[in-house]
Amino acid sequence: MTTKTLKLTLNLGKKNPKKSQKHSCCVYLIDDNKQLLQKNDNAQDSLKNLIQASQIRGKVAETFLHLDLKTAEAILLVGIGSIDKLTGGHLQKIANSIYNALAKTHKSATIYLQDCLDEVQFGQFSLALLNSSYCFDTYKSQKADKPLLSQIDLSVTVNNLTNYEQQLSLQNAIFAGQSLTKDVANEPPNVCFPAFMAKQAHALAKQYPDVLTVKVLGEKDMEKLGMNCFLAVSRGSEKEGKLVLLEYNGLNTTKPTKKTKKAEKLAEPIVLVGKGVTFDTGGISLKPSEGMGEMKFDMGGSASVLGAIKALCEARLPLQVVGALACAENMPSGNATRPGDIVTAMNGTTVEILNTDAEGRLVLCDTLTYVQQYNPSVIIDVATLTGACVIALGNVRTGLFSNDEDVIFELEQASEEAYDRVWHLPLDDDYQEQLNSHFADVQNIGGRAAGSITAGCFLSRFVNDIPWAHLDIAGTAWVSGSKAHSTGRPVPLLLHYLKNKV
Ligand code: BES
Ligand code: MN
Ligand code: ZN
Repeated sequence: MTTKTLKLTLNLGKKNPKKSQKHSCCVYLIDDNKQLLQKNDNAQDSLKNLIQASQIRGKVAETFLHLDLKTAEAILLVGIGSIDKLTGGHLQKIANSIYNALAKTHKSATIYLQDCLDEVQFGQFSLALLNSSYCFDTYKSQKADKPLLSQIDLSVTVNNLTNYEQQLSLQNAIFAGQSLTKDVANEPPNVCFPAFMAKQAHALAKQYPDVLTVKVLGEKDMEKLGMNCFLAVSRGSEKEGKLVLLEYNGLNTTKPTKKTKKAEKLAEPIVLVGKGVTFDTGGISLKPSEGMGEMKFDMGGSASVLGAIKALCEARLPLQVVGALACAENMPSGNATRPGDIVTAMNGTTVEILNTDAEGRLVLCDTLTYVQQYNPSVIIDVATLTGACVIALGNVRTGLFSNDEDVIFELEQASEEAYDRVWHLPLDDDYQEQLNSHFADVQNIGGRAAGSITAGCFLSRFVNDIPWAHLDIAGTAWVSGSKAHSTGRPVPLLLHYLKNKV
């Protein structure tokens, strides 16, 4: 076994802070038998005394901070409950409480994990620590004091060190992407509208020019392509709808020259599609005003695709991936789509729009048609699609719908690994009948019964035989209430899925 201290750097405070003994804290994990989990430690005896004196019981995320007045040494004891029952959820709570216990008072900390966590748990724990440091205060005139804590070292004693190191760099990449997802999703809807999303994509391509290119289609382009379902959503808005395409080529090993740059075509890429409704009023089928402000998060799917692409650029996974952000604002106006309007989708399907609030499937269906020109190996769409999914799965699991057993398995596996969980729901043909229209090929609503399934059924009509999955993140993209904020999900899920594809 090799002992090594892995460094996990939180991106807060000054970069590369000088580690002064004074402001560093040692963190030890205690189980609910009040046992220290780390073996072979010199300080064992004094720690045992401290555990006794602290009366810590070792419950999940319980903390006790000890400051030695003479030596100015700091020790944080953290409860983890029972090691055999440790879940990803517990690890998140433990990480948060460690961060909160030290953020304001300590510059750095070393957490002694030794051999307590397996690789997967180690990954979940590191990401949770990083995510604890996330803060969005762009619009506060009075900023809270910057946390001092800017570096956490994780000490591990394991024999497969490289795996742990790889986990760490993956989680750092995920954190960078997930933070971008949160940043754009937390922006208010007067700032974050379709052109803003396009700007974010361009900024990303500028940051990673060797692996990323961006194309943006405006409404004129979409008219030419016959993307009338997409346009039916954005026509009520003053803001122009945009289809943003991010092309990630991680197989580019040679440095791009002027000639090769942008010329290389992607071959059977993985395509991620995100619903980017930057504000969903419901349109003419207007939503009730209570809580409508949270509909700024209706672009959470596209924000997560943008964040996943950023994470890919950071992790440099050797893959070819396209991100398509379907960005539109759903507004009522004299020019808005009426309930009852019939439009022809890009693939020729006629759609009767009976409810303008079922707009996500409309921007998505044309985007799903559009991305098929990439000849994708698989398409995954991510969307805050239905309130029904929140009723079914709450805020815990994302709804997973798919036409392909392998994709289901791979996403389920990645979701457990990432602790960014999904639940598979059916798409039986029998549900399709609910979408039968009296006048057109299909209508855009299927009634109250099985609302998230019929939404998935609607999308399935536009993917032909390509392996495809639809993730309904209506309940998981943000936390609602007075402190509503983006969760950055399902970026961890997407990245674990992509990593397993390498
Ligand atoms: N963006 C909403 C779905 C939503 C609602 C997400 C609440 C999160 C919380 C979507 O565009 C929508 O309005 N869906 C309708 C569909 C219905 C009209 C068939 C819904 O769920 O009510
Ligand atoms: Mn809607
Ligand atoms: Zn919506």
